[in-house]
Amino acid sequence: MPSLSIRNAHVYTPKAPAKPGQPLRAPHNDELTDLGLCDVVIDEGLISSIKPLKPTSKPRKPRENIPELDAKGLALLPGLVDCHTHACFAGSRLGEWDDKRKGVPYLDILKRGGGIMSTVRAVRDASQQTLTDLLLERLHTMLRCGSTTIEVKSGYGLSTEAELKMLRAIRDAADRFPGTVVPTALLAHAIDETQPGFVGRTTRETLPAVAAEFPGITVDAFCEKGAWSLEQCALYYERARALNLPARVHADQFNSLGMTPAAVRLGFKSVDHLEASTPEDLALLAQSTTMGVMLPICGLHLDNRYARGRKFLQAGGALCIASNFNPGSAPSPSLCEAIATSTRHLGLSPAEAIVASTHNPACLLGFKDRGRVEEGLRADLIILSDPDPRALAFQLGLPPIKHVITKGEVVK
Ligand code: NIG
Repeated sequence: MPSLSIRNAHVYTPKAPAKPGQPLRAPHNDELTDLGLCDVVIDEGLISSIKPLKPTSKPRKPRENIPELDAKGLALLPGLVDCHTHACFAGSRLGEWDDKRKGVPYLDILKRGGGIMSTVRAVRDASQQTLTDLLLERLHTMLRCGSTTIEVKSGYGLSTEAELKMLRAIRDAADRFPGTVVPTALLAHAIDETQPGFVGRTTRETLPAVAAEFPGITVDAFCEKGAWSLEQCALYYERARALNLPARVHADQFNSLGMTPAAVRLGFKSVDHLEASTPEDLALLAQSTTMGVMLPICGLHLDNRYARGRKFLQAGGALCIASNFNPGSAPSPSLCEAIATSTRHLGLSPAEAIVASTHNPACLLGFKDRGRVEEGLRADLIILSDPDPRALAFQLGLPPIKHVITKGEVVK
């Protein structure tokens, strides 16, 4: 496991939560702790010491046999945690984008068999190896954009065989990736009208088959008009619960169907999207242990509709933001793009956006060993190209990331 000495880094970190694994809520999420200029030593992939430099400090003698990286006073932060992506896909939807730009809504494209279903056809036609190779290339791009932990959903297979093929491809890519990949089984992403009895089959056959091969995997669904209804989701999640599978859900993206209160009642890990949530549902979610995941690239790319991030935080919500990288609604591998957009359109401060893309999503994905810069935690770190951490939210286009370190290994 790599060891490394990072010299002269300006270290910023989200605060430690009151209890390990607990997400940060207002007011603790609106400030990063500034540790000043430090030397950070990594042993065997973990942060072993963070030593502040005094103005009078003489340059330390380099430690023998351990590589050194001079951070030159630039900002050092935890590696980004992208907790909602659909990065495993094949094919392209650029043709549909022409229709979209002429004004055809996202859900109408889905209704006529395009959108998610067009990617489903491309994924069914692709081999597991092709899916692995395509995903691995995207994971490396995301890593270079600062994401050291990345959740990846299935959901473009929509049959037992094709969903298992996707999940195996995600597992194979994860094994070859220096960062961390967390799979999610999105078996209820759309309704495949070509398969009679599709909902029943997914619930009775696909869910148990996935649970048998991937025990304890988190399941997900898209609860939306033209996708899975509230009633269909109820059957799906009831079966998932019986199989001991934790749950997340895509809800309130275009229409509020009542899934958010149901998810809160059932203790889901998160509700993702929230653009169309009612103020009451958003407040209910904010007061619960279920986290809210907002995906602002959708607003940027699709229709200028954004979730009310500020309101959610003011109501005490535990917030994550994510790239939602996918070939339809969010064609960006960069969580930095989502961070920047969230400060323009969700009403987040740069510190809130950084907490929502480091410590909080680490909690959502079940990690207590990352998301902050602290002795004993895993050395997943980024060094910006600026001494000020706000640059992460300020800069548009190219992510302002000079170095990426995962488990002590410098990968950029
Ligand atoms: O979270 N809305 C559902 N799922 C994705 C989009 C997937 C796609 O368009 O391929 C989302 O936005």
